[in-house]
Amino acid sequence: MTETLDAGAYRGSEQYSRERTGAFAASWLFFAHASELSAPGEYVARELAGYPVVVMRDEHGSLGAFHNVCPHRAGPLVHDGRGSATAFVCRYHGWVFERDGALRSARDFGEPGPDPACRLFDVRVDTWRGLVFVNLDGTAPPLDAALGGFADQTIGFEFESFVPAGEWHHDLECNWKTYAENYLEGYHIPIVHKELARSIEVAQYEVEAYEDWCVHRAPPRDGTVLDGRWLWRWPNLALNLYRDSMNLEQFLPLGPSRTRVAYRYFSRDGTLDEEVSRLSKLLLMEDAAICEAVQRNLDAGAYRAGVLSPRHEQGVARFQALLRSTASPD
Ligand code: FES
Ligand SMILES: [Fe+2]
Repeated sequence: MTETLDAGAYRGSEQYSRERTGAFAASWLFFAHASELSAPGEYVARELAGYPVVVMRDEHGSLGAFHNVCPHRAGPLVHDGRGSATAFVCRYHGWVFERDGALRSARDFGEPGPDPACRLFDVRVDTWRGLVFVNLDGTAPPLDAALGGFADQTIGFEFESFVPAGEWHHDLECNWKTYAENYLEGYHIPIVHKELARSIEVAQYEVEAYEDWCVHRAPPRDGTVLDGRWLWRWPNLALNLYRDSMNLEQFLPLGPSRTRVAYRYFSRDGTLDEEVSRLSKLLLMEDAAICEAVQRNLDAGAYRAGVLSPRHEQGVARFQALLRSTASPD
């Protein structure tokens, strides 16, 4: 019988710190949709697991990615969000960096000046089918190789031609793993998601777990909008694919005990199906309530560890194996 992670793994800054470096910085992480960075000079800045990152399109059409941290004394380069600029001007003392990260000038610094090799802290960036990914510590295999079988599962879904149709997020009072593990099993569906359970053949719900990704399948019932394929990739990306739309879901830790679930919808014509939107919000609210209750119980002290269903929870088992191998205390 596979035993779960210990309850202590779902809280505390030491464990979170190991996960930031072992799970998040070492992996390719979804960052933005290519349409957010279409023109030269356009940039997107946002935080991933506490790492501030900025990605910018240069005048040659290539993407450059950097920690949004100045090498002088750690000042912030740009505000989070989207913008456009010809160079990065640090918001602390005004050093200027080229779009490729090289230091252009160090305002009124004096002699000797900074090392001419001084530049922004580079982040690896690559694009797959219109989705921009970053690798923060630069050690991951190339993106194509890293996506492997996960990418193969998307063949037949033509989402490169989709355009953004809306986005929203919801912050949960739980560890990011509490939410991720909930995403990784359908065992709770008949109990927690009554409406979803009526829309799909829930008895035939299956999760297949592979090296660092999973696929969920359930035969739809007539009339549901949920006829598609649901994919998850380590550590925090879910891609819910349908014939004419896609819902990209990311689990973003805001610290050891808070998680932002960010949704981005894409569709062939840029419109958001109201039924898809209503259902995904309903499901998230149902998951948020149960995950926050589970987190309170993990923190309360009675529970140390449990067991995983061989029939339903192999996705959770895979996730926990990856967690143990990348971010365990020993
Ligand atoms: S911290 Fe950026 S210029 Fe000083
Ligand atoms: Fe759920």
